[in-house]
Amino acid sequence: MTVELTLTLDATSAKPLQVQVFDQVREIILEGKLKAGMALPPSRLLAERLGISRNTVITAYERLAAEGYVKARGTAGLFVEPIPPDSLLLIQRGGEAPTNGPVPDGAGEPLLCFAGSPGGGGDRPELDFWVGRSDPAGFPLRIWRRIVNRLLSRETAYLTDYCDPAGLPELRAAIATHLRRARAVAVTEDQVVVTAGGQDALNLVFNLLRSRTRQLCIENPCYLGASLIFRSAGMTIHPVLVDGNGLRTDLLPRDRGSLLYVTPSHQFPTGATMPLSRRLELLRWAEETDSYIVEDDYDSDFRYDGPPLTALAGLDGGRRVFYAGTFSKSVGAGLRIGYATIPRLFWDEARMLKARMSNGQAWLEQAALAAFIDEGHFDRHLRRLRQLYKSRRDCLVRALRETFDEPVILGSESGLHLVWRLPEGFLPARTIQIRARERGIGVYALSSGAAYDFDPGARDDMLVFGYSSLAETQIESAVRALKSISEDAR
Ligand SMILES: Cc1ncc(COP(=O)(O)O)c(C=O)c1O
Repeated sequence: MTVELTLTLDATSAKPLQVQVFDQVREIILEGKLKAGMALPPSRLLAERLGISRNTVITAYERLAAEGYVKARGTAGLFVEPIPPDSLLLIQRGGEAPTNGPVPDGAGEPLLCFAGSPGGGGDRPELDFWVGRSDPAGFPLRIWRRIVNRLLSRETAYLTDYCDPAGLPELRAAIATHLRRARAVAVTEDQVVVTAGGQDALNLVFNLLRSRTRQLCIENPCYLGASLIFRSAGMTIHPVLVDGNGLRTDLLPRDRGSLLYVTPSHQFPTGATMPLSRRLELLRWAEETDSYIVEDDYDSDFRYDGPPLTALAGLDGGRRVFYAGTFSKSVGAGLRIGYATIPRLFWDEARMLKARMSNGQAWLEQAALAAFIDEGHFDRHLRRLRQLYKSRRDCLVRALRETFDEPVILGSESGLHLVWRLPEGFLPARTIQIRARERGIGVYALSSGAAYDFDPGARDDMLVFGYSSLAETQIESAVRALKSISEDAR
């Protein structure tokens, strides 16, 4: 039985006519108006009625047949196929797709991304001390464009090919060279896995060691991103307090089989640098308890005072420390390039795991970054940024010292943020955060500054300032505003 099809086509629409025919016939079938066994009108007839070309109808019909809505019966034409009612229920219209519904204020986990970045949404304060933002104006755009253009004019085959799941060999070699020189980590390219930023590196190491791990240890307070991985694991977690020298090694559990997350070079968020004696204690603890350590060295390219410190992984010699690094701070978070270094014993497994997780990273960014490092641009770029960020750090420290009475400033020797520990009797950090926000200034209490505290009753006396993407005049005016907030409170 052939039926009339009432279709309404719009010749001015951007949607091609054949797609309009396909969509509308499909809709009619799904609504049950065309039942199983019914014939579609012959293509010539429908084309005449609609005043369109027969090929347009044929193309739409072929697609309906290819997707299983209709089937040809010899020369008799196309007939609607039976669709099981349950399947129909799943795809029928009428209901909205389920959503999470509105998120109550303050509920749910904060996102790791900086929500004011392009595409991140959210409205950010004008003078924003959000942690760890590299200065957008500092991105080496001219050189990057030149390298990318060169790559695209010569090596486009890589755009359609897979590369090693562990990462582009040239980039792994460049990273290994940088780590040997800058962090005294004696690795070769066959111990480096390129990842989608530092977060992916932490995930890789966590998944690699999960089956060997009985409990998780993590510095407290800690980086929100690491806490998210650990807290979702369903395993016992030992938060280990930090003091002015970083993680308190004397509080580590003596049980065997821990996996410890730590940021020894610039503790996140407090900024403490772990001295050598503690680093050695940490390595001894790992050896004695048959434990592993993931060292997150997220901002170590920026050390302003004193010589660069040997990373924990450099002291360990490739036994128990997995090193996680990122180019998010030194080049740009939008690249999403980080890496993990892997003790040799675990290399094959790590490479296999990376293949299973994502089968490698995008070629173009990896190739561009490898060239950027190999041609010496990265070192020059770092030197320039170090100078810029150091001036901003100096400006912030100076402004705080000139404005407030002997402020206790932590973690200013390196990285892209510092912490002001508020004196007794001062406003709580969260209150300052809220009042500053009303004046267009973003300063952050620990709980909001991408940090996490396992102790809900922890003192709210630390304000985090990421200074790297604000000009000195902005820093000075923000500190003046903080002064007036504190005076209003009196
Ligand atoms: C402590 C710490 N670790 C790791 C990262 C990793 O960042 P990404 O995933 O952007 O490379 C960050 C980023 O802010 C961080 O602050």
